[in-house]
Amino acid sequence: MQTLLPMASASITAPTIRLKDYKPFPWRIPSIALDVVIGSDAVEVSCCMELTPLLGAEPQALVLQGVDLLLQSIAIDDNALKPSDYNVTAERLVIHQPPQVPFQLKTVCRIDPQANTSLEGLYASGGMLTTQCEAEGFRRITYHPDRPDVLSRFTVRIEADRERYPVLLSNGNALSAGPLAGDPTRHEVTWEDPSLKPSYLFALVAGNLNEVCDRFVTRSGRNVTLRLHVEPGDEPFTAHAMESLKRSMAWDEQVYGLEYDLDEFNTVAVRHFNMGAMENKSLNIFNSKLVLADAETASDAELERIESVVAHEYFHNWSGNRITCRDWFQLSLKEGLTVFRDQCFTADLHSEALKRIEDAAMLRNTQFREDAGPTAHPVKPDAYQAIDNFYTTTIYEKGAELIRMLRTLLGETRFMRGMALYFKRHDGEAATTDDFVSAIVEGACSQGEPLGFDCEQFKRWYDQAGTPTVTVKRDWDSTRGVLRLSLRQSTPPTPGQPKKLPLVIPLLWALVPANGVPGEEQLLVLDQEEHTLELKGLPCSEQPPALSLFRQFSAPVHWEASQESAELFTLLACDNDPFARWDAGQQLWRRIVLARASGTPNADLEGQMLEALSVLLAAAGEQDPAVLATLMAFPGGPELEALQQEADPPALYRAACALREKFGQSLAPLLRERLDLVAPDLALAWPEGQGQRQLTGLIWAWLAAAGDSAVRSDALAAVSGPSMTLARAALRALQPLDCPEREDALRQFHDRWQEKPVIFDSWFALEASTPRADGLQRVSSLLQHPRFDPMAPNAVRAVLGGFAGNLLVFHAEDGSGYQFMAEQIIALDQRNAITASRLAKVFSRWGTYSSKRQALVKAALDQLSAAQLSSNTREVVEMMLG
Ligand code: TRP
Ligand code: ZN
Repeated sequence: MQTLLPMASASITAPTIRLKDYKPFPWRIPSIALDVVIGSDAVEVSCCMELTPLLGAEPQALVLQGVDLLLQSIAIDDNALKPSDYNVTAERLVIHQPPQVPFQLKTVCRIDPQANTSLEGLYASGGMLTTQCEAEGFRRITYHPDRPDVLSRFTVRIEADRERYPVLLSNGNALSAGPLAGDPTRHEVTWEDPSLKPSYLFALVAGNLNEVCDRFVTRSGRNVTLRLHVEPGDEPFTAHAMESLKRSMAWDEQVYGLEYDLDEFNTVAVRHFNMGAMENKSLNIFNSKLVLADAETASDAELERIESVVAHEYFHNWSGNRITCRDWFQLSLKEGLTVFRDQCFTADLHSEALKRIEDAAMLRNTQFREDAGPTAHPVKPDAYQAIDNFYTTTIYEKGAELIRMLRTLLGETRFMRGMALYFKRHDGEAATTDDFVSAIVEGACSQGEPLGFDCEQFKRWYDQAGTPTVTVKRDWDSTRGVLRLSLRQSTPPTPGQPKKLPLVIPLLWALVPANGVPGEEQLLVLDQEEHTLELKGLPCSEQPPALSLFRQFSAPVHWEASQESAELFTLLACDNDPFARWDAGQQLWRRIVLARASGTPNADLEGQMLEALSVLLAAAGEQDPAVLATLMAFPGGPELEALQQEADPPALYRAACALREKFGQSLAPLLRERLDLVAPDLALAWPEGQGQRQLTGLIWAWLAAAGDSAVRSDALAAVSGPSMTLARAALRALQPLDCPEREDALRQFHDRWQEKPVIFDSWFALEASTPRADGLQRVSSLLQHPRFDPMAPNAVRAVLGGFAGNLLVFHAEDGSGYQFMAEQIIALDQRNAITASRLAKVFSRWGTYSSKRQALVKAALDQLSAAQLSSNTREVVEMMLG
């Protein structure tokens, strides 16, 4: 095929796009007809759009986006344009003087999906062709405004070779299908999507796929055909995803009263995919690792994740598709809300308490880390260069926390009234986060209730980056039984935002007296910089009752209350809020690990923790194995790094290893008893037995570290056993230990799963993160492994992401790890800018390291900065360099 225009994505520093410059697109495009002819080497896309000038719009040029397109012809109302009528650059098409009345624009473009390694637009994955249009991939398929506020009805005809591409899918309903008149080797299908949708929700799939079919009847009686399309041979691994989809559909009806709106719901699993999954209208496309799974091939954590991602993408049908975003600054409108909804779904189906703890831990270790670094940005950013860089934990998870705070402030009933109003009022529209908050607040006050907080002030959460800290000072008058709390909030400066204003922070708290019976939970709304609270009439004991703060993790903040360890042990033992109880333990663990990491172990505190754990582990102690495992888990590395004077990841890693060894030794008899106690339940099918397996994995890690050879061989045996959860727990337990069982375990896992790419990626990740003297060499040889696919982001992330988590090797004192990573990011950026720029964020905490380490990272960043980079990676590197 002909060579295409120069790659527009390479090496240009993109202009900054600003929220304040938002203007509606000057035309409406009520309908689009695409005609996609898949040839043996190229694809020809004919696009016919109806354009109607907006009322009152000035006469102006028509600007359409297009990247890596080869324009074959262009006509308005069937009249071919002269070359002087328009202009084509690497990124757009400009028609100088379009008609000022409704007209039809017809373009024909050639694209080359085989040469497209970016995994945006139309690209090849294995033998199939597939699309990814969010955020700006549609412009790689045809010329179009490609912005989310332009909503159209799409009709799509696809034509292709019958044998090579027997399945042809797009959004909506299949109208007609059949052989192509005149050519028996080819066939065609026409799809029509009755809904109005933005271009980023367009999808097309062509390939040799087998379908697994099921059905869901909505509560109003609509029959929906559910199809999961997978590569031949993968059908046996689809049951979990299909069941998850049906549970999601039922949940959205029960909880939100929202039904599915079409007759068909298709899901396709694709090996080459930049993210987890994509909510294209009625044609969800999934990273195959988030579809293909059963208990033998996926861990419990992966099964739960699959269930939640299937739900997430399904929930987008309302929160994202029927109500979409006006512009990409509003991304959290759909992502924050949909994460909130999928979190509630998982909480309802499984354990609300454990889900909350999991989400809080994740927020602290990813979002707080982002909020404290050079790429910190608000939930509603006001500027970006590459929108792909803003699919972040801040937009997703912090966005979800803002919605959760609204629920906490309003109460469940009023909040759900607000949600109902939102879905009703904005259905069919492209909306903003302001629209969302207004609808929630109006719905919540529809019966004349006072709001109870300042709505405009609450919205600061959307505009202000950074994690607030709430400090709590206490004054205890033991003779009168009066406790005075002085609370203060502050948010540190973040890039571009030196000064911060006070936020509306919902603080759920309670008092837990020494007798262990917690008082009632209270809500305090902090909306000033300082706040005091006087609690009278408390029992006049020497110590005040323990203070249980931010119960349910009621706000995404840090807090500092100078709590003595005795107080925290009381909460760990007696608090009735599962989050606050866990958090008390986490605060103690932090002190323990940090003391170890700084070379001054706190023997007293470790002794008290051993005692507390002995109580929990004893037969009459904590009964729920999942809760026990959660209480015994150390805080995450990023969270601990942030608390160090100078972040020192290797020191934290060594501290955790030493603690596992000591705790494993000291608690060995109790740990072994617990192992025996849960053993009969290990074979229960997910979701049953997951707590038992989780606890087993944790105990294995402690006992294996303590040198227990029986446990080491039990773990080794699990690698060839029937449970992927236990196999992976075993590998994790053995990984830090330089022992023959570790090498055997890795080899056995390799031999058993090397034919299954989705599973084999976890071998790559394990290998890359195993601390070894020749670690770097091993990692670089993984990139040459015959089963390593450099085009598959899953594989790249497994090796390079695994390597970044190999703390002793990545952070090697000679800087070799940083250097290697920089080189790999540069190479990856040529193929796949989205994955490269996400990976580049591994350096984002460099400003907190020792000056020696900073110099080593700086050299790597300078090397990156000097390279030819995509605008995506360029933006991230420049942010990190400050
Ligand atoms: N909207 C997707 C989600 O539900 C995110 C996504 C999938 C995406 N693929 C992408 C974003 C590619 C940017 C680029 O979370
Ligand atoms: Zn999403």
